[in-house]
Amino acid sequence: MSEDESPLQPGTERIMHAVVTGGAGFLGSHLVDSLLEDGFRVTVLDNYGSGREENLAHVESSRLTVQKHDVRDPFPEFKTVDVVYHMASRASPEDFTSHAVEIALTNSQGTKHALECARDHDARALIASTSEVYGNAGEHPQSETYNGNVNIRGPRAPYDESKRFSEALAVAYERKYEMDIRTARIFNTFGPRMDPNDGRVVPNFLTQALRGEDLTIYGDGSQTRSFCYVSDLIAGIRAIADAPAEVAAGDVFNVGNTEEISIQELTDVILDVVDTDSGMTYKPLPQDDPEVRRPDISKITSQFDWKPSISLRTGLKRTIPYFEQRLTDD
Ligand SMILES: NC(=O)c1ccc[n+]([C@@H]2O[C@H](COP(=O)([O-])OP(=O)(O)OC[C@H]3O[C@@H](n4cnc5c(N)ncnc54)[C@H](O)[C@@H]3O)[C@@H](O)[C@H]2O)c1
Repeated sequence: MSEDESPLQPGTERIMHAVVTGGAGFLGSHLVDSLLEDGFRVTVLDNYGSGREENLAHVESSRLTVQKHDVRDPFPEFKTVDVVYHMASRASPEDFTSHAVEIALTNSQGTKHALECARDHDARALIASTSEVYGNAGEHPQSETYNGNVNIRGPRAPYDESKRFSEALAVAYERKYEMDIRTARIFNTFGPRMDPNDGRVVPNFLTQALRGEDLTIYGDGSQTRSFCYVSDLIAGIRAIADAPAEVAAGDVFNVGNTEEISIQELTDVILDVVDTDSGMTYKPLPQDDPEVRRPDISKITSQFDWKPSISLRTGLKRTIPYFEQRLTDD
C-alpha cells in the first residue's frame, strides 16, 4: 500500500499511528502485519521476553518502528498516537510460575503505562485480555457477562488475576478520564509464529508429532478447548478496535472459535494431519486446568458481523510448515 492510501487522522493530513505493545510476539506480529497492510504507521514496544526479532524480520515497510522497551517502564515520548494495542504479556503456562512477578506487573504496571499513553494522546486503546479471566468456568459456553471462577492463590493466578486487574484498570480509566477503551477476551489461538516450546496444547502436540514422539495428554483428555486460527483472531481484534466509539467504547468482547473439541479428539486430528508414528502418553492434570472452554461469540458476531472462517484442520495445515521450519532451525 502506498502512503497515499494510508488511513488519515480525520481533519489532518497525518497517517494514523498505532502503538503495539508485544508486537514482536505471536499475535502482536500478525496484528502489526494487518495494521501495516491497512496503511497505519506502527511503533512496536517489546522487551523480547517471549517475542522474537524474527517475527517482524519479513517487514520491509518504512512505516514500522520497533523499539526494545519493557512496558513495566513508562512509555517513550511520541508526537502523536491514534491507537494503543496493549498485547504485551507472556501467555505461556510454562511461564506462569517461572515469570510470575514479571507477568503480574506487565498486566498491571504495563497496562497503566499503555492507558497513560492513550490518555496523553487522546487515543483509543485496545486491551488484550484472555478467556483465563473465566477460570475454571461454572458457565458454559462463557459469555462476557460471566464473572469467572479463578483461584486467586493457584499457580495460574499471576496471569489470570493480573489480566482481571488489567480489565478493571481499563474500566477505571475509561470512567475517570472518559477514554475510549475496548477489551478483547482472547480464547485459545494458534498459527505460524507461535513458539514451539510455548507449552500450550497445539504447539506441544505439533512439536511431538513432527518429532515422532508420543503426544502428552494431561488428565484423561476429556477436557475441552476451542481453537481459533490466527488470521481469524486478528480480524476479530481489528473489528473491535476499528468500530465506531458509539458501539464499542468501554465494552468487552469475547473473540475466539466456537468449534469445541476434547483434547483426546484433538490428538486424532493432529495424527491425521501430520504424517507420524507418534502414540500417546498420559500425565496428571495440572492444578486449576480449566475443564471446558468455549466462547460465546454472539456479541461480537451480532455487533460487528465477525465470526471465524478457518477450521481447525485447515489452520493446522497452514501452521505445520512453520513448525517444521522452526524445528529444523532450532
Ligand atoms: N495466544 C493465545 O491463545 C492468547 C489467548 C489469550 C490471550 N492472549 C493474550 O494475547 C497477548 C499476546 O499473546 P501471544 O500468544 O502473542 O504471546 P507472545 O508471548 O507470543 O507475545 C507476547 C509479547 O509480549 C512481549 N512482552 C511480554 N512482557 C513484556 C513486557 N513487560 N514489556 C514489553 N514486552 C513484553 C513478549 O516479548 C512478546 O513479544 C497477551 O496479552 C496474551 O495474554 C493470547
